[in-house]
Amino acid sequence: MASTATAGHPYALLALAAIVPIALATFPHRALLQTCQPNGSIPGKSGSCNPENGSECCKDGRRYTTFACSPPVTAGGTRATLTLNSFADNGDGGGAASCTGTFFDDDKKVVALSTGWFNRRSRCKKSIVIRARNGRSVTAIVVDECDSLHGCDDEHNFEPPCANNIVDGSPAVWKALGLNTDDGEVPITWSDA
Ligand SMILES: *[C@@H]1O[C@H](CO)[C@@H](O)[C@H](O)[C@H]1NC(C)=O
Ligand SMILES: *[C@@H]1O[C@H](CO)[C@@H](O)[C@H](O)[C@H]1NC(C)=O
Repeated sequence: MASTATAGHPYALLALAAIVPIALATFPHRALLQTCQPNGSIPGKSGSCNPENGSECCKDGRRYTTFACSPPVTAGGTRATLTLNSFADNGDGGGAASCTGTFFDDDKKVVALSTGWFNRRSRCKKSIVIRARNGRSVTAIVVDECDSLHGCDDEHNFEPPCANNIVDGSPAVWKALGLNTDDGEVPITWSDA
């Protein structure tokens, strides 16, 4: 009731007009994320999921959100979540990297990007710079897609689809940034090199 009365007051509208731009400037990350909405969901399916290194395994009966987009890429650095992936044969990355058709040992600085940022292979074999909050940065090569549309199958180690804001880095990327792989997920920013 109180909110209805307040919203009807002309000064309340003026206050809103002033507050909304301030809120958008203060929380740009939240505003950007809202520009990329889910495009559907897939049913969970458990299987021969290797749960090593903190991999989440799909559960039967659950549904998992899919995304065809990622938040907009910003020139000064795009906020993302760094996750850990082995691109080695028998690692948790599933099949060979889709950009090269090959595997990469854990001492190679390579990443997979969420589907929207992978942008239909346009960043394949391109370098990106990843910056951690500790001030360290590393250059890594994009070799695969962190698939935000598909998952819960053998090709994806029976893991759910990726979130839309993932930079999935090899152990060498985490090491170069001085990060602890036990943390599993770390906020970073990245930009095209
Ligand atoms: C989600 O996006 C993909 C790729 O653009 C498309 O093939 C698929 O049909 C979309 N799914 C839904 C439910 O819109
Ligand atoms: C777990 O991570 C280590 C490196 O941190 C890697 O050598 C190993 O292959 C990974 N295991 C799986 C199943 O990916």
